[in-house]
Amino acid sequence: MADKVRVAVLISGRGSNMVALEEWNRRGERSYEIVLIGSNDPEARGLMAAKIFNIPIWAESHKGMERETFDRLLDAQLKAHEVEVIALAGYMRLLSPWFIGEWRGRILNIHPSLLPDYKGLDTHRRAILAGELFAGCSVHMVTEELDGGPVIAQAKVRIRERETPEMLAERVLKEEHKLYPEALDIFCRTLRDQLQPTISSSEKK
Ligand code: GRF
Repeated sequence: MADKVRVAVLISGRGSNMVALEEWNRRGERSYEIVLIGSNDPEARGLMAAKIFNIPIWAESHKGMERETFDRLLDAQLKAHEVEVIALAGYMRLLSPWFIGEWRGRILNIHPSLLPDYKGLDTHRRAILAGELFAGCSVHMVTEELDGGPVIAQAKVRIRERETPEMLAERVLKEEHKLYPEALDIFCRTLRDQLQPTISSSEKK
């Protein structure tokens, strides 16, 4: 496909969703390409995989920096790489309202719960303790409200008897790895179609 949407993936840790996004992209004709992997932790485990993929990396520690100051550095990198869409994948740092305003409608996140339930951390433990029948993951737009933006895709799993949070997390993560690439692909395809200039019928002739 011509004109793939230029995506940056932001990570802070293991990076397994970032790997899933890139591997899925390499397996077929997709609407996006990952042009930058960013991290607020230069030691993030997932950066090893980014190196193997040969994707440009920007990794700086946010420590000792005001939230917005760090986000402005990040923003400059994203713009230098002509990024159009940002996919958060285990990015453990709240984004400043300034950054979210700058990229409104262009930031996605994956969260390990069936939003709007269980925003925040420790989602699987809380779902099990509450006696839920189902758990899952959600891809959503990022807004100023933590894990509160519109949900664009979800996958559900049934919680098993005597399942531990760790066992559930592992099963949900497998779903994340399928859901996120597909959701990002559809999102980018839709975005690309919207940005295509419309040609009126008289002009087509
Ligand atoms: C995933 O469970 C994701 O839903 C959450 O953070 C975790 C990141 O895992 N936002 P990984 O770094 O992608 O392996």
